Amino acid sequence: MHILHVVGARPNLMKVAPVMRALKHHSEIKQTLIHTGQHYDTNMSDVFFQQLEIPAPDVNLGVGSGSHARQTAEIMIRFEPVVLERKPDIVLVYGDVNSTVAAALVCSKLLVQVGHVEAGLRSRDRTMPEEVNRMVTDQLADLLFTPSADGDENLEREGIPSRKIHRVGNVMIDSLVRLLPAAMEKKLNGLPDRYVLVTLHRPANVDDDVTLKGILECLLELNSQLKVVFPVHPRTRQRIADSGFDASQLDLREPLPYIEFLALQRRATVVVTDSGGIQEETTYLKVPCLTLRNNTERPVTVTMGTNVLVGQDGARLRSELSKVLHGKQKQGAVPPLWDGHAGQRIAEILSGL
Ligand code: UD1
Repeated sequence: MHILHVVGARPNLMKVAPVMRALKHHSEIKQTLIHTGQHYDTNMSDVFFQQLEIPAPDVNLGVGSGSHARQTAEIMIRFEPVVLERKPDIVLVYGDVNSTVAAALVCSKLLVQVGHVEAGLRSRDRTMPEEVNRMVTDQLADLLFTPSADGDENLEREGIPSRKIHRVGNVMIDSLVRLLPAAMEKKLNGLPDRYVLVTLHRPANVDDDVTLKGILECLLELNSQLKVVFPVHPRTRQRIADSGFDASQLDLREPLPYIEFLALQRRATVVVTDSGGIQEETTYLKVPCLTLRNNTERPVTVTMGTNVLVGQDGARLRSELSKVLHGKQKQGAVPPLWDGHAGQRIAEILSGL
């Protein structure tokens, strides 16, 4: 059997790594890896291949940045001949980025089976581009690998037959479990014992000047009590520069490699973020997480984990931060099947087909 994996953006890489690793133990399965080139900076892509020990892509489509329509269309145009030439039996797509939906659309028209890893997540907020990508990909997929029970329920509600749904757990946590020992060895030079770790890149937070300035003002205020460490996504760096806001008091860094970021997360007093994956990682690490969104496609991080949704409300962010700083943070538990073996469960299912 020939399995072709498609990745494009940073959060795909922690997900593909454990699946490829687990499939290596099944000698009857041939694997091919295609990188769409959605993310192309060394520190958004290459360094993750090295640290997660992902084999070099067989093909890089080199699509780069663009509007959603242009990026998605360009991936489809460049991916179609690859599928026609390589004739995979199954194409695996990951998460909810533009590369995910583009590849799923191409395959479904070519009648090639699609497996979606991290299926069934729903924020019920269609203003998020990722929500559209999730819904479309799940409708097209033949095999849906979900991380938690809410995923199964969402899919069944949308009419997906239960025989297609496989609850396997969280593949991103597989990568975390494997590389946590390496992260624990990292020295955090020059950082105090207590600090806040921030990431920010959602269009809803960074593309609107007033919202972005409001968040940055809050962070500057917080920084006078507790050091704010902020690895900045390229989109956000550009928006901060465009807004003219002086954020130089904050410890702004380049996007970090996986192990270095994990080391920072593990030791953080609190994480403030709008990322999807970081809500999950902090839940696993039992580090308090304040999410700058009004909804989440990962509700289990709120119901079971350490995640609190604070929206874009500065007052709410201040009050939740103050709870954490006074030791009154939410306690959490690790959701079922977030155990480091999700990739193996996917490999077992695929090899049994
Ligand atoms: C994408 C995903 C988002 C994910 C995020 C993680 C979609 C719809 N969004 O958002 O779900 O959480 O990745 O990082 O797929 N840029 C660079 N270098 C790069 C990549 C991007 O400078 O290597 C800049 C470009 O100016 C680009 C902008 O970042 O226009 C946004 O990149 P894009 O891939 O469009 O979306 P992300 O915001 O990264």
